[in-house]
Amino acid sequence: MKITFSVIKADIGGYVGHSATHPEVVEKVKEVVKGEKEKGNLIDCGILTCGDDIAIVMTHTHGVDSELVHGIAWKAFEEGTKVAKKLKLYGAGQDLLSEAFSGNVKGLGPGVAEMEFEERPSEPVIVFFADKTSPSAWNLPLYEMFADPMNTAGLVIDPKMHDGFTFEVLDVYTGKAVKLSTPAELYDLLALIGSVSKYVVKNVYRNFDGEIAATASTQRLSLIAGQYVGKDDPVMIVRSQSGFPAVGEILEPFARPWIVEGWMRGSHNGPLMPTSFKDARPSRFDGPPRVIAAGYQVAEGKLIGPTDLFDDPAFDRARQKASEMANILRRQGIFEPHRLPAEEMEYTSLPKVLQKLEGRFYDTETHSPGKELIEKEDMD
Ligand code: 13P
Ligand code: 13P
Ligand code: MG
Ligand code: MG
Repeated sequence: MKITFSVIKADIGGYVGHSATHPEVVEKVKEVVKGEKEKGNLIDCGILTCGDDIAIVMTHTHGVDSELVHGIAWKAFEEGTKVAKKLKLYGAGQDLLSEAFSGNVKGLGPGVAEMEFEERPSEPVIVFFADKTSPSAWNLPLYEMFADPMNTAGLVIDPKMHDGFTFEVLDVYTGKAVKLSTPAELYDLLALIGSVSKYVVKNVYRNFDGEIAATASTQRLSLIAGQYVGKDDPVMIVRSQSGFPAVGEILEPFARPWIVEGWMRGSHNGPLMPTSFKDARPSRFDGPPRVIAAGYQVAEGKLIGPTDLFDDPAFDRARQKASEMANILRRQGIFEPHRLPAEEMEYTSLPKVLQKLEGRFYDTETHSPGKELIEKEDMD
């Protein structure tokens, strides 16, 4: 059976500040989506939360970019926003950028990751969901999962994976994408996706037969291209096993935390900490950035799960390490490279400061205000 697996997410209000969601808001979103399932519009549905973001997981047969399915998510987030506004939650309705739904949530604020596939005899799927970071946070783990044989033994061992994978990479500034096939074009791929503020991986396909393997929420970035909109707490869907990386190969990159953009005010670098569902509540300096992994078996489109895949003591060391990395970076305070370069900050007072100081900047070659002061003293 051909099914569509859709994950649509938004921040419609934080409790408290930007740290978590409120149960009444989550309940309302769930109620609306469940109602649509009961009407027969969806095969199945589920809700995930990470920090102050809510993701709606839906399976159906309407294909990607379905007006019906996007409309369901939009309605659920609108109803949830009403509750968030009543409770005066922080940034209530933050990600609903438009007053009205016009057929597709892309560009209206929510993040979307969707893929359509023929359900295999067994279909394990992992949904990753992160808060306080951006879709480029997936660049490094996607490279390791699908192109690094030191991470993914299956690239060497599994005949269906041995031909490698093709990465579709989006240029955030131009909205243009390019497909690069690994292992042949691995170094070209890395030359691009190492620049995390410019390039993000959008999709990954299996070279053996062109099957979709992974997809990430990047649409908002491409639609508002030309203007820097790098931060959008992202989701990602990854298919697993028998011709795709094993669950453990997909999770392995997260055992060694690395540094991503986001954290406080969307303007800092910080370690991405893999946590259980219950610990996905970033509080320290509004972070450090969190990621959860929800595992599902899809059965005739039904969502069997989720299991909380980072709720495993084997990831305790990664959490500890991320805290140590957070300490090292916090020592830098407002200084780069903890704080992002000015052009990548989500908001900045720099233009105002520069405007205020305009006229007070002088050419040090030809002008010295210190000398003027001494001369003035002499005259007195
Ligand atoms: P599959 O080839 O069945 O996906 O499993 C490989 C494996 O044993 C994972 O550890
Ligand atoms: P969110 O993007 O998760 O809403 O966080 C914004 C922020 O300013 C955190 O400090
Ligand atoms: Mg928020
Ligand atoms: Mg958030």
